[in-house]
Amino acid sequence: MPLPSVSDESSFDSTPSLVSPSVSPSLMPGAPLKLGILASGSGSNFEAVAEAIKNGQLNAHLQVLIYNNPQAKVVERAARWNVPAVLLNHRDFDSRKELDAQIVKILQQYSVDWVIMAGWMRIVTPVLIDAFPDKIINIHPSLLPSFRGAKAVEQALAAGVKITGCTVHLVCLEVDTGKILLQAAVPVLSNDTVATLHDRIQVQEHRILPQAIALASAT
Ligand code: GRF
Repeated sequence: MPLPSVSDESSFDSTPSLVSPSVSPSLMPGAPLKLGILASGSGSNFEAVAEAIKNGQLNAHLQVLIYNNPQAKVVERAARWNVPAVLLNHRDFDSRKELDAQIVKILQQYSVDWVIMAGWMRIVTPVLIDAFPDKIINIHPSLLPSFRGAKAVEQALAAGVKITGCTVHLVCLEVDTGKILLQAAVPVLSNDTVATLHDRIQVQEHRILPQAIALASAT
């Protein structure tokens, strides 16, 4: 069988078999999950979760968005979805623990039971983790345990891997090490830049984040 030519590379993209485990849409009976979203940036993952709820793929309600960067575009998305948004600028706090204590307070005020880090660029402390044990979910743009920490897409390109992807996992104290819930693989194309590769990874992030929330809450 002939190998695909370089121009066929994009045909590798977005096939359902690249997601593992394969999760069938569940009915998720019972009361909607009460989600609190933590985000620092554009909020495309926030949007994906909101869409999945609207489409009935995720039985949940967005109780509150907490964001730490006054310029974050995610706040505009929250307004469009009528989700209350609270700015907690990390620069206003003396320590990570003090920021996390305020985050916990807000999440509790909004009766959140699952915390979703959708592009939250802060290192968390035991203050947050202990308040929501095994109830904090993060999305990371690599196939963990490869390329933990910042600039995961850059790290993958620099390493020359041919397949990377994204991971949804439970959050524990050590960055990007918690129990893996769901992963999607994304081929690296020969002409990829950080931007083009990250764009394709994000397509998969938007698919698996809502699925992983449903999966985590069902187990
Ligand atoms: C995503 O790539 C996520 O994996 C990483 O931060 C990015 C957030 O993107 N942790 P967005 O703000 O949801 O568009």
